[in-house]
Amino acid sequence: MKKITIAVDGFSSCGKSTLAKAIAVELDYGYVDTGAMYRATTLYFLRNKIDLKNNEEVQNALCHVNISFKSLEGKNCTFLNDENVEEEIREMEVSNWVSPVATISSVRRAMVAQQREMGKEKGVVMDGRDIGTVVFPDAELKIFLTANMEIRAQRRYDELISKGQKVKRSEIATNLSERDRIDSTREDSPLRKADDAIEIDNSNLTKEEQMELALKLIQEKMSLQV
Ligand code: DC
Repeated sequence: MKKITIAVDGFSSCGKSTLAKAIAVELDYGYVDTGAMYRATTLYFLRNKIDLKNNEEVQNALCHVNISFKSLEGKNCTFLNDENVEEEIREMEVSNWVSPVATISSVRRAMVAQQREMGKEKGVVMDGRDIGTVVFPDAELKIFLTANMEIRAQRRYDELISKGQKVKRSEIATNLSERDRIDSTREDSPLRKADDAIEIDNSNLTKEEQMELALKLIQEKMSLQV
């Protein structure tokens, strides 16, 4: 069976990574969490006190940001220069800074180049904000996930609490709305649904129902491959 490229885009905390990971396991495809790449870059910038307004400083810093993924005990982990930063990049400080960092064009260029390299052989599920519009505009299947804000905030809250983080629900909702606003209004590659993307609102769907829907779409797209 010919391998395809699957793009999963959408707003923050819509369950993109849950769906994308499940599809990758089902099809035995690679999985790339592009949000984790922007988060790891943000962590590097925070640790090294990079001035986001200083283009030269940002460009220089990008030369020292090496991001990779490894599966450890079945868990997808993000590495920044050989350090496992999977937990740290999900904390509130990174969440509060990642959208401003993701507006910087030189950062986007560096991330997109790596993402295209990671997906060049196809057989990949990539989730993010601009996968179907910029990174892989020719992806055979593009899914655009949405869910209502209350449900998204609750899901994120449950996830962070289960990891032992001390967060307030109101703080999460504010962070999500602010990231949505910055992500969809930025000048360079704003978050938007690609014209040929299929929208799934999962507010009232279980993970299984969502997966069933996605698999149906995948079968349709695969049957069109020669
Ligand atoms: O998927 P996430 O919430 O971990 O993404 C974190 C941030 O990274 C998000 O607020 C916007 C940015 N991002 C982006 O601009 N483009 C992508 N392809 C993925 C994420």
